[in-house]
Amino acid sequence: MSFMRLPGLIDPHVHLRDPGHTYKEDWDSGTASAIAGGYTCVLAMPNTSPPVTDPDRFESIISAAREKARCDYGVYAGGSSTNTASVSKLSKKVSGLKLYLNDTFGDLRLDGLHSINAHMAVWPDNRPLLCHAEGYMAAVVLMLAMLHRRSVHICHVSRKEEIDLIRAARERGLPVTCEVTPHHLFMTDADIDPIVRGRYVVSPRLNTQSDQNALWQGIADGVVDCIATDHAPHTLQEKDSQNPPPGFPGLETGLALMLGAVRGGRLTMDLLVELMHINPARIFRLAPQPETWIEVDMNKKWEVNASGFHSRCGWSPFEGIKLHGCVNKVSLRSKVVYSNGEVLGCVGNGRYVNQL
Ligand code: NCD
Ligand code: ZN
Repeated sequence: MSFMRLPGLIDPHVHLRDPGHTYKEDWDSGTASAIAGGYTCVLAMPNTSPPVTDPDRFESIISAAREKARCDYGVYAGGSSTNTASVSKLSKKVSGLKLYLNDTFGDLRLDGLHSINAHMAVWPDNRPLLCHAEGYMAAVVLMLAMLHRRSVHICHVSRKEEIDLIRAARERGLPVTCEVTPHHLFMTDADIDPIVRGRYVVSPRLNTQSDQNALWQGIADGVVDCIATDHAPHTLQEKDSQNPPPGFPGLETGLALMLGAVRGGRLTMDLLVELMHINPARIFRLAPQPETWIEVDMNKKWEVNASGFHSRCGWSPFEGIKLHGCVNKVSLRSKVVYSNGEVLGCVGNGRYVNQL
């Protein structure tokens, strides 16, 4: 059987650059890219310019999304060193609180244990708390979550040592969840082309084959909960500059890469649906989207050519690779919003996804 119906995919980690850098992406182009990739709901990261750190900025990002989004969406708040007390006013409105513990794009990186600890103490335990926490920082986050007896979600896990730590924490009953990206599952440091090194700059960086094997093992063991694209668009000119910003676009390649893994026997279709729909919906407590589904064509072969993508950034780290399987049709709340390669859903179709 070549056509299969799956629930609409949920991407819990995208950067849409609106406001601030709309020449890279905005709510219109980013959600068109999402729909073309099989996503019917995206949760947007707060490192916009300015970042989403207070109620006024939240309202302004929501009004841009209301006007332009083509698929359903949520927005995270960002923890800063000055909003530990005030950001909890947003806890019932946003999809979660994101803490940046490592270098990243923008200025949300938290400096000092004190700020991290204060956010962990104050953010309500029944609202998602997400951390960018690589290497030693993963241990810091797990320790603090244990002390505060709270849940935590670790973003884009990319190394064996991090997966091992998360596995050990879960075995001890800690409510920690995590996500991995398609690019860390399908690329390693051996793929970096030294001639265009800037194009391979991403945070967390591309790691070793042994790290990648550990991520696949984590998927097989149930330690990995979600596949999240970490769609982080920057223009090719910026990527090829002296100071390339970190990030890859990923919304239009993620599902096809994962369908290839199903075809290759690395995971089952049921597990794909868990990683890309069921678990993100559960972890981020998202209300179901009725009459929302995607139809995938398992037999379609195609080659990545980012000039045909909907993302405004216009390039892909997977350019030229051959994929097997694609999205054929997308229904968002009863409306066909994608069919035969065309995004039919209009701007403003998207709704803020409520949390249960
Ligand atoms: C992200 C971005 O560009 O906003 N870049 C990235 O490489 N993932 C920032 C981030 O997620 O750390
Ligand atoms: Zn990110």
